[in-house]
Amino acid sequence: MPRRILVTSALPYANGPLHLGHLVEYIQTDIWVRFQRIRSHECYYVCADDAHGTPIMLRAQQEGITPEALIEQCGREHRADFADFAVSFDNYYSTHSPENRALSETIYLRNRDKGHITTRTVRQAYDPIKGMFLPDRFIRGTCPRCGAPDQYGDSCEACGATYTPTELKDAISVLSGTPPVERESEHYFFKLKDFEPLLKAWTQGGHLQHEMANKLNEWFEAGLQDWDISRDAPYFGFPIPDATDKYFYVWLDAPIGYLASFKYLCDRNGLDFDAFMAPDSTTELYHFIGKDILYFHALFWPAMLHGADFRLPTAIFAHGFLTVNGQKMSKSRGTFIKAHTYLNHLNPEYLRYYFAAKLGSGIEDLDLNFEDFTARVNADLVGKVVNIASRCAGFINKHFHSRLANHLTKEALFQEFAAAADRLAQYYENREFGHAMREIMALADQANRYIDDRQPWVAIKEPGREQEVQEVCTLGLNLFRQLMVYLKPVLPMMAEKAEEFLNCRPLVWSDAGTPLLNHTLNRFQPLMTRVEKTRIEAMIEDSKEHLEKKANPAQANGPLAENPIAEIIQFEDFAKLDLRVARILKAEQVEGADKLLRLELDLGGETRQVFAGIKAAYAPENLVGRLTIMVANLAPRKMRFGISEGMVLAAGPGGKEIYLLNPDEGAQPGMRVK
Ligand code: MSP
Ligand code: ZN
Repeated sequence: MPRRILVTSALPYANGPLHLGHLVEYIQTDIWVRFQRIRSHECYYVCADDAHGTPIMLRAQQEGITPEALIEQCGREHRADFADFAVSFDNYYSTHSPENRALSETIYLRNRDKGHITTRTVRQAYDPIKGMFLPDRFIRGTCPRCGAPDQYGDSCEACGATYTPTELKDAISVLSGTPPVERESEHYFFKLKDFEPLLKAWTQGGHLQHEMANKLNEWFEAGLQDWDISRDAPYFGFPIPDATDKYFYVWLDAPIGYLASFKYLCDRNGLDFDAFMAPDSTTELYHFIGKDILYFHALFWPAMLHGADFRLPTAIFAHGFLTVNGQKMSKSRGTFIKAHTYLNHLNPEYLRYYFAAKLGSGIEDLDLNFEDFTARVNADLVGKVVNIASRCAGFINKHFHSRLANHLTKEALFQEFAAAADRLAQYYENREFGHAMREIMALADQANRYIDDRQPWVAIKEPGREQEVQEVCTLGLNLFRQLMVYLKPVLPMMAEKAEEFLNCRPLVWSDAGTPLLNHTLNRFQPLMTRVEKTRIEAMIEDSKEHLEKKANPAQANGPLAENPIAEIIQFEDFAKLDLRVARILKAEQVEGADKLLRLELDLGGETRQVFAGIKAAYAPENLVGRLTIMVANLAPRKMRFGISEGMVLAAGPGGKEIYLLNPDEGAQPGMRVK
């Protein structure tokens, strides 16, 4: 019985390029989907860009474009990368779509009408300069637990503590550099606790991997909290119906984006979306995700769906994270590799195979080790699989007019390969791709041994043994064809080339049970070349992000030569600087700082604190009362010792040789320097 299956991968954010870590997920999902399809099931695979939220809004501002333009451009790049890696979506969409808006409203309103939405006022960090509430990630400060400086507003990378931004010490907004203030605003909440019995049953009901189900138990024990689903303007997202200046939090409409993408497909292909999503639907729905986003998919998502009278997912499949050469991907080591950079150097199917060989059904992290990668691809794909075809094809093309024999000389071997189909299908179905690859390579070894034993290259030289050569190579190519069936979910491009050579219609799973006989082939074309070490090195080099160091062009001596005039600027650039005369009211040592003095400056009515790197050049007591020049409109900077609200101007190379600027007599604090 063909099954009807809808499959999704998590939606990548539309504000950055795809990297090899993302590809673990899309390749894993695509392999599973392609497997279902060649088993003749009706399987749809949809995805979309996750287009909403504060980071995307700010990124667009930074680039001086509209969020729509940013997500459009990002979407284009994502689609191109996916196509190049042969990720076979039936629809790739955007969460910023009319379908998604309509579905988000429906799901929200149905939940609201059943009483699952509540509102209350919350106090939240607000950036008065930027005029917006701040997500935790946009606040930095000192960890309240361990005192580590420069930590995010929600958690400390040094000690792992989690907290609220209000607990953070010396907090500042990364957007404006100023300390956030607290402001009240009304928020909308989804009452997750209403769904506790449903969720407990569902999460323990075989829909999750057991490690994930255990994780959920911990969350139940910790207690389910109301989920804040609203954000205040300015926000790039969908407005909440019947509310003013409130938007759905990006994570509300993101998973709904799965359905919106599918809806788009249904509307165009005459599929019945409502039947698919009905609570009693007999279709299957699977979400592939990274383990970092389980909470959203295993708690909020089923609850929202249930509250809106939609069916629940059949299962959620989580995977682990990618490391490269044993470490977290790193820009400086060149192991933060973008999909696009990879494609400039290497064949995408190397990576598809390598990931397949390392993937299982669990959530362990997965390491991409480039030596292992090279060795496996070269040994398995080139050395074993392609080798079978290239050893046999030449003889058939050259000596037998490309014609295969009309029977199998050693039927048992073919049958043994055919008998692997069920086992391999089980492995694929259960996402045990690594097991499947090992078993396929063991079969490839067997095929190669068979050819080694029969030595067609010797037989062809001996009169009267032609038929034997044709038979041996016919069997060899049939074994190769069976392997290509089994590998087709992983290597769709190579399978297509093989189909072209075998001169046959697209291979499906059941083809592994019937031999190709008395059939004319096309000329053999190389199917895959070896991984070159130099290409990997070049790719890593391309991925390195260096801190640009400019060579010093100066030849002569003297301060100017050591520190040549900077790039020419326009008057408007200069005019942006607000330079002011300031009086030093206070100057003091800073405990623990070896270069800094803390200055208090009078700007003619306003007092500013500035940390200046002038300790080696001045004793604090000699500075008090002096006039100097400061940059008054520099964004405040959070330093380890406090916030620096400007900069004083001084000349010289540094250390003891620092000379503070002094206005002439008569200048008053607060006067503008022009
Ligand atoms: N936009 C959200 C998902 C919304 S789904 C309704 C998101 N986007 S993401 O771009 O950060 O990640 C997309 C997927 O890629 C996630 O499943 C994530 O776990 C996965 N990965 C991102 N980096 C990864 C690795 N380094 N390794 C493996 N998977 C990784 O989360
Ligand atoms: Zn800490």
